[in-house]
Amino acid sequence: MAGVIGTPLDGRKAAAEIRCMDQISPKLLPVRPSIAAIQPNDIGRVAYLALGEPDLLPLWFGETDLKTPDFICDAAKKALDEGYTFYTHARGIAPLRQAIRDFHRRTLNTDIALERITVPGSAMLSVVLALQTVIETGDNVVCVSPVWPNIFQAAEITGAEVKFCRLAEEWTGARWTLDLEKLFATCDARTRAIFIASPGNPTGWMMSPDEQRTILEFCRARGIAIISDEVYGTLVYDGTPHAPSLLQVAEPDDAVFVINSFSKPWAMTGWRIGWLTHPACLSDQMNVLAMANNTGATTFAQWGAVAALSARGDEFRAFLLERCRAGYEMTRRFVESQNRIRWIPPHGAFYGFLHVDGMRDSFNFACNLVRNARVGVAPGSAFAPPHDALTDSYVRICFAQDAERLQTGLERLSAAISSL
Ligand SMILES: Cc1ncc(COP(=O)(O)O)c(C=O)c1O
Repeated sequence: MAGVIGTPLDGRKAAAEIRCMDQISPKLLPVRPSIAAIQPNDIGRVAYLALGEPDLLPLWFGETDLKTPDFICDAAKKALDEGYTFYTHARGIAPLRQAIRDFHRRTLNTDIALERITVPGSAMLSVVLALQTVIETGDNVVCVSPVWPNIFQAAEITGAEVKFCRLAEEWTGARWTLDLEKLFATCDARTRAIFIASPGNPTGWMMSPDEQRTILEFCRARGIAIISDEVYGTLVYDGTPHAPSLLQVAEPDDAVFVINSFSKPWAMTGWRIGWLTHPACLSDQMNVLAMANNTGATTFAQWGAVAALSARGDEFRAFLLERCRAGYEMTRRFVESQNRIRWIPPHGAFYGFLHVDGMRDSFNFACNLVRNARVGVAPGSAFAPPHDALTDSYVRICFAQDAERLQTGLERLSAAISSL
C-alpha cells in the first residue's frame, strides 16, 4: 500500500494569529480572564517557529506522514457527489454508529448499544462533551500525566481546576507505573473526573485491566466519572487487536466516557472525526451537547469514516501498525546507540518519549533544535504542569514516519545532543 507524504501547514500564518492572541487584554475587551490568560501550549510555541519550512524535519506532531488511503477519500467524494451535503443527526448517521458498534465487537469482543455511541466531530470534541457533562466551575479533573496538553487546556476552559498524578519512570524494569494510592489521594471532594489516556500520549504506557477495575471501584464509590481516552487503542505492539479498554470492564450505566478517533489508526487527522461512548441514559443530553457544540460531524467525513471501518480499513490499520513498528525499531536502535538518551519503550501509540541526560529545559532545547539542527520535536514541558522538572528532561518524537525521513531526523537530533 503506497503512502503519500502529507502537505505541511503554513506556519507563518499561524504565528501571526498567535501574535494577535498576545494582544488581548481583559481590561479592554469583555473576555473571561481565564481565556485572556490562555497561552499556546509548548508544542505549538516550538512548532510556530518554523511550521511548513521545507528544510525543517517535523517529528513534533501526533500524526503519520501518510495521506488518508484513497478508498476512504473516494467514499467521502462519492457522498459529496451524491448530495450528502446537509445536516445529519447530531449524534451521527446510523450506518456510521452501526459500523462503530461492529468495530467494537471485532476488536474488543464487546457489544455496545447504539444509544451509547455519539459522533459529535473530532475525538477532541468528544473530550469536550464529556467534560461539559460533568464539570461545574470550581470542580477539578485529575489527569494522569504526562498528558497531551490539549486535554488539560480543554478542562481549564470548561472551568475546571486541573490536578496531575504523574506516572513514575521505573528505569530498571523499563516501564512507567501508575501509583493508584497516589492517584486516589490526588482526588478530593471537588473531583468530578479522572482523565486517563491508555495507550498514553506521550509515554505509550498502557493501563492493565486490574488497574482499570480498581479505578472503576474507587470512582463508583466516590461519584467520579472516568474519561478514558483510547484513541491509540489499536496501535499496540504486543500482538493483541486492542489495548485493554474500559468498555470491557465497565457496566453500560457506569459514569465512563470512552474517547475514540479516526485520526490515528486511519491517518485521518485533518478530517476531525472521532466518537464518544457514554452511558445510555445520557443519549439525549449528548444529542443536545452535540447540537450546541457543532450540530453534528461533517456529513461527507462521516461517510469516509464508514469506509474506514470496513475490511479494507482493517487492512490499512494493519499496514500502518507495521510501519509504526518499523519506526519503533529504528528509534530503539537509535536510543541504544546514544549514551545521553534513554527511553522506556512504548507499549502503544507512536511516540518515542526520549530522556536526554543533562538537559533540563526541554522548551529551549526544542527551540534550539529548530533553529540550529532543523528538526522539530515536542518538548517534555508541554505534557506536564509548570515546574515538573522530571518531565522537562524529555522530548517527544513521532516515529510514524517514512524511514528515510525518520533516520535523518534522528541523525540531526544526535548531532545536536553531542554538542550539548
Ligand atoms: C491522547 C489524545 N487524545 C485525543 C487526541 C485528539 O484526536 P482527534 O484528532 O480525533 O481530535 C489526540 C491527538 O493527538 C491525543 O493524542
